[in-house]
Amino acid sequence: MSTGQHTLTIAMPKGRIFEEAVDLLRQADDHFPDSFEESRKLVIDVPEANMSFILAKPTDVPTYVEYGVADLGVVGKDILLEEQREVYEILDLQISHCRLSIAGLPDWKPTVAPRVATKYPRVASAYFRQQGQQVEVIKLNGSIELAPIVGLADRIVDIVSTGRTLKENGLEEMETMYDITTRLIANQVSYRTKTEQIEDLMARFNRVIQKGDEI
Ligand code: PRP
Repeated sequence: MSTGQHTLTIAMPKGRIFEEAVDLLRQADDHFPDSFEESRKLVIDVPEANMSFILAKPTDVPTYVEYGVADLGVVGKDILLEEQREVYEILDLQISHCRLSIAGLPDWKPTVAPRVATKYPRVASAYFRQQGQQVEVIKLNGSIELAPIVGLADRIVDIVSTGRTLKENGLEEMETMYDITTRLIANQVSYRTKTEQIEDLMARFNRVIQKGDEI
C-alpha cells in the first residue's frame, strides 16, 4: 500500500470511531506510523502510508465520499441508513458495535399516532410505516433521551451502546430495530480508478478482522 502511486483520502468522524479505525490501520499496515500529529487539524496527512484523513461530523462522512472529496469513508451503519448516499458499502469493519432501538418510559401507554423523537427521521418513518404503525416523527439533533422525560415525545429511536444513558434516565429499551457496526464506504469513481489500492486495504482489514474473530 505504501508503495502505491496515489494517496487514499479517507473521511472519518472525530473521536472514538477515528481512534478505533486508526488502531485497525496500524494493525493492517506496517507502514502506518505509531503516532502522528493529533491536534485540532481537520486534514491529517500520513505520507508514510499514502493516506490523508478528513475529519468530519459523522453524518457528513457519506457526503464527502459521494462527492469524491474522499475516496473512502469510515462511518456507522446507522448513518448510512439515514443518509442514503450514492456510495459503495465495501466492508463491515466490525468496530463500535451498538444497536438502533426504540425506547421509552416503562409506564408508556399506546396512543393514536404517538410522537417519536429521533436523530434518524428517515429510518424511523420507514420502520414504523413498514410495521403499519402511524407515528409523528420529531427530528432532534442530540440528547434524544430528554424527549420522553419532559413530555416532548412518547418514544425515541436512538443508538444504544452500553444502555447506561437509558438506565440513568429511567427509560426502557423496547425493541431493537437494527444491529449497528462501523462500515468502510467508497466513492463509486475512486473504487474504479483506485481498485487495486482499495482492495489491498480491504484485504489487510479483513486479515485483522478475522484475527480478532479467532481470539
Ligand atoms: C449516543 C446515543 C445515546 C448514547 C448511548 O449519544 O445517542 O444517547 O450515545 O450510549 P450508551 O448506551 O452507552 O449510554 P452521543 O454520546 O453520541 O450524543 P448525543 O446524545 O448528542 O447524540
